[in-house]
Amino acid sequence: MSKNIILTGDRPTGKLHLGHFVGSLRERVKLQDSGNYDEMYIMIADAQALTDNADNPEKIRENIIEVALDYLSVGLDPNKVTLFIQSQVPQLTELTFFYMNLVTVSRLERNPTVKSEIKLRDFNTSIPVGFMTYPISQAADITAFKANIVPVGEDQLPMIEQTREIVRTFNNTYKKEVLVEPKAVLPDNEVCLRLPGTDGKAKMSKSLGNCIYLSDSTEEVRKKVMSMYTDPDHIKIDDPGKIDGNTVFTYLDAFCENKYFDKYLPEYKNLDELKAHYQRGGLGDVKIKKFLFNVLEEVLTPIREKRKIYENKIEEVYNILESGSKKAEKVANITIKEVKEAMRINYFEDKELIKSHVKKYKK
Ligand code: TRP
Repeated sequence: MSKNIILTGDRPTGKLHLGHFVGSLRERVKLQDSGNYDEMYIMIADAQALTDNADNPEKIRENIIEVALDYLSVGLDPNKVTLFIQSQVPQLTELTFFYMNLVTVSRLERNPTVKSEIKLRDFNTSIPVGFMTYPISQAADITAFKANIVPVGEDQLPMIEQTREIVRTFNNTYKKEVLVEPKAVLPDNEVCLRLPGTDGKAKMSKSLGNCIYLSDSTEEVRKKVMSMYTDPDHIKIDDPGKIDGNTVFTYLDAFCENKYFDKYLPEYKNLDELKAHYQRGGLGDVKIKKFLFNVLEEVLTPIREKRKIYENKIEEVYNILESGSKKAEKVANITIKEVKEAMRINYFEDKELIKSHVKKYKK
């Protein structure tokens, strides 16, 4: 019987924001609460984060706890999911080394995510080998746990595709169905695939300063929402306004539920009515921003409260990560044994090998 094994993770290069939340975190909590899985692993990908931060391990050290707090505060439950740190599971590195022989340099160079990240980072010709090969290490992360379900953001699809290729190549080359092909799970709401920054730019990014973090205070959220990009041609209240490309409405599409109208804007029944009024003219930006602020506060308040609780028990959070890493190591160890057996590099366990060599050299 095939099992449902979920694995995913994030690089600890910063705090998690609303883009992470709608793009993947919310999906993970839903999966967790559905109970429709056998095992669920969530990994803090510190080794991957080091592939372009080798000179700044301090940044990674500081952000591991931030990401862990973000995970726990959105409702990931350490009794249901295994939270662990990538670098503490050495089998992942070992698998990466063997998989490297199954992937060509040109295939890595064609990976669209790697390509665009190289552009973004101004590496020019000085691309670290570790960075170039991180899709292979990501394949190790996924296959070590035989995960078949990987809830991720849209930008990770090429990674999953490359993992599937490695799985097929491995199983074909070594003539044994050891590894499992994973599939990506994306949020079904289109706007959640790529939540824009508060400035309307395509992506939330720390360097652009256009993110709302899960750990932002009420005041920070208010400020960021009140200065959000809307429709630059909507100058007077009576002007007709545009919805397309209007960040406030994009966020409402991602977060709004009808029940919030009853509570904060009872003169409208739903988002369609609000949009229609905005398009007709006569609805001001301040009003829709205040509404969005209230909606976001509904989402963020319980997250903040949970975060407070865990901020007061940091040692326990580290204990969760440590015991999760130990459990992950146990599981990955089973896979590496199978991998070595399939590759026939399990010399000391292979009694036939030893026997045949005894025979070969017998005088
Ligand atoms: N590449 C992912 C990111 O940047 C992090 C990651 C590492 C990951 N290993 C993974 C995601 C395995 C899913 C599965 O966010």
